[in-house]
Amino acid sequence: MKPRPDLAGHVALVTGGAGFIGSHLVDRLLADGAAHVVVVDNLFVGSEENLADALATGKVTFYRDDAELATSLEYIFDAHEVDVVFNCATKALNYSFLNPANAFDTNVRVILNLLELQRRGRFKTLCHFSSSEVYGSAVYEPMDETHPRNPTTTYAAGKGAADLAVETWVRMFGLDAFIVRPFNNYGPRQNHKGMLAGVIPITAVRLLGGGRPELHGDGSQSRDFIYVHDTVDAVLKLYRLLPAGEAVNISTDNQVTIAELIQRICDFYGYAGEIDRRPGRPSDVQCHNASNVKVKGLIDYTLTPFADGLAETLEWYRDRIGGTV
Ligand SMILES: NC(=O)c1ccc[n+]([C@@H]2O[C@H](COP(=O)([O-])OP(=O)(O)OC[C@H]3O[C@@H](n4cnc5c(N)ncnc54)[C@H](O)[C@@H]3O)[C@@H](O)[C@H]2O)c1
Repeated sequence: MKPRPDLAGHVALVTGGAGFIGSHLVDRLLADGAAHVVVVDNLFVGSEENLADALATGKVTFYRDDAELATSLEYIFDAHEVDVVFNCATKALNYSFLNPANAFDTNVRVILNLLELQRRGRFKTLCHFSSSEVYGSAVYEPMDETHPRNPTTTYAAGKGAADLAVETWVRMFGLDAFIVRPFNNYGPRQNHKGMLAGVIPITAVRLLGGGRPELHGDGSQSRDFIYVHDTVDAVLKLYRLLPAGEAVNISTDNQVTIAELIQRICDFYGYAGEIDRRPGRPSDVQCHNASNVKVKGLIDYTLTPFADGLAETLEWYRDRIGGTV
């Protein structure tokens, strides 16, 4: 396909742009010369602090609003001539254990609103963030993009439904929309508060607060952790090249078990105490071993070594949270 135009000088809108990946994407869009970036985030988990540098450029308009509501998106699109939308809005996977229907609904509502706006010509290109969670536990490894989608949570079911929506709107209406499917991301700004936090921030903050780390299940469940800057870099390269209607995994070649990960965090902070054992979470995916053959064939794919990314991340939490282990 003919590459899409460079985003320099264009206007991007990022739903969920005050969150973890979204805020790094906003920073990178600005660094790459975007004329303006519009952020829509209801601050369910995200925070304006994540956008502090971006807002200081004067090139970002932040709307604290709900992308699940079509009317909220309407007035925002009335105020800006948007070229491309990156859909990062979601409620964390763990939320689906508390409020299963709304976790599903958020993932579906936001994309339907965006697809209908795009169908009506309100912007040109849509990059939708799917999740490795749509695959469920591996039936073969490594999981490529044709792996069966077998969600184990309502969060993942909503993500899977959103992917089908993108695919069918592209087929029916010829929209320029594509899907990026990250595996587990880590890095600075990942939410560390409450039960919606990810395993790396939750363990770091627990240790920095003088607490003990927790290990759910036997710890043999594994994940493919990718550094957030690598994900953002890949997404922006894929934006130029990925044909409409296609999906691509964004992952590394590394599998880390949760037990090993917790041990690495303990070692980094010099913690040699007990690890609290907790029962496994229902529906926890056992293994996420991704194939990244497709992404490597499409773009120049550079990955940060896990040890380096993890060290930068743990230093960031130490600087932010303070405390001693
Ligand atoms: N972090 C990961 O490991 C990972 C892995 C795979 C896929 N993804 C996908 O990447 C995207 C970004 O994830 P993240 O890790 O940055 O999550 P995040 O929770 O940090 O960011 C999501 C943002 O969406 C906002 N939001 C929630 N509901 C909203 C609504 N109705 N309207 C507007 N904003 C709303 C939240 O406040 C939050 O800031 C998501 O689509 C997620 O499914 C993330």
